[in-house]
Amino acid sequence: MNFKLTEEQQAVKDAARDFAQAELLEGVIERDTEQRFPAQQVRQMGELGFMSMMVDPKYGGGGMDTISYVLAMEEISKIDASASVSMSVNNSLVCWGLEKFGSEEQKQKYLPRLCSGEAIGAFCLSEPEAGSDATSQVTEAIDQGDHYLLNGTKNWITNGNSASIYLVIAQTDREKGHRGINCLIVEKGMDGFVVGKKEDKLGIRGSDTHMLSFTDVKVPKENRIGEDGFGFKFAMGTLNGGRIGIAAQALGIAAGAYELALKYSKERKTFGKPISEHQAIAFKLADMATKIEAARHLVYKAAWLKDQGEDYSEASAMAKLYASEVAMDVTVEAVQIHGGYGYVKEYHVERLMRDAKITQIYEGTSEIQKIVISRSILKD
Ligand code: CAA
Repeated sequence: MNFKLTEEQQAVKDAARDFAQAELLEGVIERDTEQRFPAQQVRQMGELGFMSMMVDPKYGGGGMDTISYVLAMEEISKIDASASVSMSVNNSLVCWGLEKFGSEEQKQKYLPRLCSGEAIGAFCLSEPEAGSDATSQVTEAIDQGDHYLLNGTKNWITNGNSASIYLVIAQTDREKGHRGINCLIVEKGMDGFVVGKKEDKLGIRGSDTHMLSFTDVKVPKENRIGEDGFGFKFAMGTLNGGRIGIAAQALGIAAGAYELALKYSKERKTFGKPISEHQAIAFKLADMATKIEAARHLVYKAAWLKDQGEDYSEASAMAKLYASEVAMDVTVEAVQIHGGYGYVKEYHVERLMRDAKITQIYEGTSEIQKIVISRSILKD
């Protein structure tokens, strides 16, 4: 078993860390307060290759492994989880889904724009009545011969306004249940497609999360991904990898808060010595470091399994479940270590604590991960 990163993986990690420090740290508090999407920075991330790390270079991607991707996600999430969720959705859900399941024409048409940073993608599965229960899609894509007529509403869509390429999951034949669902590629500007209200969120406030509505949108047949009825399998298969990205985000949020708490505990003095020398604080730091390391092992293992071509659905659910719990625990402790300073924006940890919560909710709540894990371990 080799736990050492390769030179290339270490270089990716260093590059992501440098980028986050140089380009994302400044203004992150203001973007959070004003709910402003880091458009310019995400564009730069595209130009530097962070938005399409695993895509084949022939389509403009980085051709990297999943380990490199999680390393970059971790570093960027330490500083700005709003930028990293945009990166995660573009890499794991949109680019990976298109490259794995799309036709050659679809890949050639959409991937180069998604890889260069010219376009951002969005993954549209959740609905007002279909969050966890993803088969209960109300949005309809009715077969009209050479096109589908798309009607419905999608909720909580990451990159909702900033995207221009949307993968929309919709029901074509209700009687067939999950085998009657399709995934359609919808482009911004198609008649009847409207970006609706922006959500005012607890955390990842710089990420632009919107409601989307579709009214008689004519989507050409060639925009369907896979065979008729493949949409649910597409969504589930894609989310398996998406959960590795979000697990890495949770890991980064936890590690970012821990690094800040560690630094602060060495600087802040009470009762005549740095608070890190009080066992009450030192033990908290020990617990935080241990949990982060355990989460890191689960996240890297899931990424490694994916790179080996092995089944990673159980591993990715475990990684997301545990890393998101660690993100919540560690960020709460980081605020506690900072005392009153932790409760104000300037010290970053309150934002990381708010950001941590969403990692237990999106791309499947913790309860959904437990469904995936328990079904997997009980199947034999
Ligand atoms: N991987 C591959 N295939 C899977 C799968 C997985 N993890 N889970 C289910 N499938 C397949 C099954 O094998 C089955 O195929 P067959 O018919 O060929 O046997 C089919 O899908 C249906 O499976 P189930 O009967 O198990 O489906 P279910 O209705 O019981 O649902 C579920 C299973 C795990 C609860 C699923 O609904 C689920 O994952 N829900 C959560 C959805 C989710 O994560 N939403 C997040 C929205 S995206 C987002 O948040 C993005 C963002 O903006 C950040």
